[in-house]
Amino acid sequence: MEKVIEIQHLSKSFGTHEVLKDIDFSVQKGEVVCVIGSSGSGKSTLLRCINLLEKPSGGKIIYNGEDILGDRHDIHAYRTKLGMVFQQFNLFNNHNVLNNCVVGQVKVMKRRKEEAEKVAIKYLNVVGMDQYVNAKAQQLSGGQKQRVAIARALSMEPDVMLFDEPTSALDPEMVGEVLKVMKDLAKSGLTMLIVTHEMEFAKEVADRVVFMDKGVIVEEGPPEQIFNQPQKERTREFLKRTLR
Ligand SMILES: Nc1ncnc2c1ncn2[C@@H]1O[C@H](COP(=O)(O)OP(=O)(O)OP(=O)(O)O)[C@@H](O)[C@H]1O
Ligand SMILES: [Mg+2]
Repeated sequence: MEKVIEIQHLSKSFGTHEVLKDIDFSVQKGEVVCVIGSSGSGKSTLLRCINLLEKPSGGKIIYNGEDILGDRHDIHAYRTKLGMVFQQFNLFNNHNVLNNCVVGQVKVMKRRKEEAEKVAIKYLNVVGMDQYVNAKAQQLSGGQKQRVAIARALSMEPDVMLFDEPTSALDPEMVGEVLKVMKDLAKSGLTMLIVTHEMEFAKEVADRVVFMDKGVIVEEGPPEQIFNQPQKERTREFLKRTLR
């Protein structure tokens, strides 16, 4: 199988606090990987290092065979290949839905406005938000905002989508609509790396589940293994606490 992203010996410290320790892992093309673990275990930092919102303290990030932390690599081009969806949406609240999905395409990808609008509408349709192109982001519900944020990321036509707890800021009744969109994307063959507390979702959708604790990957494997036959005591304890 083809590795899209490979992380080797990745570490990250904030001051003397080592938040990620010698992380090795990879994401294959078309794979859906869910990252689980307690608060503070380093999940967000891992995603932020992968898309270079944080500078890793050590280790390698290999993207399609290229060492992107090496001197010669175009970091800017690499970052456009990764779509990111945050807990807090990060939409432009005063802009309408369409514009939120167009701006990045025009600024970063240098697409013409008309073309960018076509692409945006295509992905707003995918997330079921094409009826809302003229609505201001601030008028939307949390679930709708997050679906627009997903469409915005998809509009850049990334190779990999990174999600950092995309449903954690939502009212419970809106979680389902966002997870449904993500499920459909997973089925469509999109490569996805998802930090989530939604264990049922991870069970159902993930090809592989990665359990992190205190800056290390404790265990990873297919959801049946991680949830039904975890090999490590730390995984068992975490699941006992969370699934209760
Ligand atoms: N910019 C920063 N400066 C200093 N410390 C940080 C910074 N970002 C994260 N940390 C610390 O790194 C550790 C891991 O944080 P991180 O946000 O990656 O955890 P997480 O697994 O995403 O947790 P949660 O489930 O609460 O989102 C925490 O102890 C946090 O306080
Ligand atoms: Mg986090």
